Amino acid sequence: MVLSLVLALAAPGVAAARDFPEDFLWGTAIAAFQTEAGGRPANADTHSDWWAWSHDPANIANGHVSGDRVERGPGHWRRYRADARLARRRLGANAFRLSIEWSRLFPRSTHGARTPRQLDRLVDRAAARHYEAELRAIRGLGMRPMLTLNHFTLPTWLHDPIAVRAAFAGVGPDDPPPAVARGGWLDERTVTEFGRFAAWAAWRYGHLVDLWVTINEPMVVAVNGYVNVAGAFAGWFPPGVYSFPAAVRAVRNLAKANALAYDAVHRQDRRARVGPVQNMIAFTGDRRGAEHADYVFNRVFLNAAVKGWDDKDVDGRIEAGERRRDLRGRADFIGVNYYFRSRVIGPPAPASSTVALFDFLPTNTYRHPLNPTGPPCPTVCTDFGAEVYPQGFRGLLRRAGSYGLPVYVTENGLADADDDMRAEYLVDHLRVLRGAMRDGLARVKGYFAWSLMDNFEWAAGYYPKFGFFSYDPRTLARHERASARIFHTITRFGRLPGGQ
Ligand code: BGC
Repeated sequence: MVLSLVLALAAPGVAAARDFPEDFLWGTAIAAFQTEAGGRPANADTHSDWWAWSHDPANIANGHVSGDRVERGPGHWRRYRADARLARRRLGANAFRLSIEWSRLFPRSTHGARTPRQLDRLVDRAAARHYEAELRAIRGLGMRPMLTLNHFTLPTWLHDPIAVRAAFAGVGPDDPPPAVARGGWLDERTVTEFGRFAAWAAWRYGHLVDLWVTINEPMVVAVNGYVNVAGAFAGWFPPGVYSFPAAVRAVRNLAKANALAYDAVHRQDRRARVGPVQNMIAFTGDRRGAEHADYVFNRVFLNAAVKGWDDKDVDGRIEAGERRRDLRGRADFIGVNYYFRSRVIGPPAPASSTVALFDFLPTNTYRHPLNPTGPPCPTVCTDFGAEVYPQGFRGLLRRAGSYGLPVYVTENGLADADDDMRAEYLVDHLRVLRGAMRDGLARVKGYFAWSLMDNFEWAAGYYPKFGFFSYDPRTLARHERASARIFHTITRFGRLPGGQ
């Protein structure tokens, strides 16, 4: 089947029949914490909140995290050259999305250092050189790097998630958040320091990178970190608390951090393209509940980054004092991560007096081995219990396109250890993408599949297998899954299999 597809696509006239433009970016996405550690020595970074969080005995005992050790991972820190070659040669990628780890580069507080030069005196030199070499390797193979400045993790000198969790014990979901030192995204200091880190990164790597992601999935950070309703709805990201005012504060600080990082990168390089990456979920079900969920999860942050709307009470209305110039226009593109559908029920009353529109209950995940008490999958679900729903992609691309900026699909993929769904999943989503582009719903410039190799899936550890490549945790050898071949055929000819 694959061979006949390759031959069919190689026939004359193919250039005219491309589904995606010649200059379209094709690649995979990875993130530092999820991929770098592994092998012997494991080259693990022990200075991030996620390191502390994923090793915390109470989290493991409560089942909030899997207990898998991130240090038993794919070892991308050592294997980065070979991995970049796999992306280029086996997948035909012309772009490569990755992140740099703030806590590796700056394992200790940089308090007092303001300028890139001052920060550079404090940097871990080996780590800084390592990322430089990695970016050079990616470019040397003919791929354009897309560099993410923050993919979920924070240095522990800014975030002590265990202390934050303890400080919230006994605090109600609408009570004012307690003051905590090293409060992560609850703390203005994290915002300021992130702006400086972004300036350093652009100063140091600007000659190698022109596509920058400020923050990956700010709403996931806020919701999974601060809206954990035990037994009902929980993502158990650090600091694993249940507090609406904390979630709102985190979102507002993340919007500010996006703006500061945007400005900082542009100050170093005016021509750089900089944007946030938004996880977008296709909400269906109760109409009012789905609209509210869409507003809270898919739109609030982008409205802030593009229009400067600071909807403090999250009531869907922008009132006096909720328009901010210091947030507005801080995106050159919108990155969209799309994975699944969520079915929403609209409960009669808001769950919160802080977030007016939080009056819905979403089902994001169905029964799977780590969630044995979840509801059974209503249609087709991945190994990780996510409901496959390519149809939902179109509306979200329209939504992203409505901001008037170019769009990159910065992640799309599934957990599928047997690889019996991946090729179809990708082709189905790419077909919807092609339709949205043809119909002018969004100016989409590129597509990054999640992910190059299996990796550490945050609270769920190593069970979900998202990779085109699996790996042997002992030897770190990569093994290609069959779907890689299909993806390569698509990237090579810019065409989807199966004609229309
Ligand atoms: C994140 C990735 C994650 C993936 C699969 C996205 O939410 O950016 O870090 O591994 O989804 O769940």
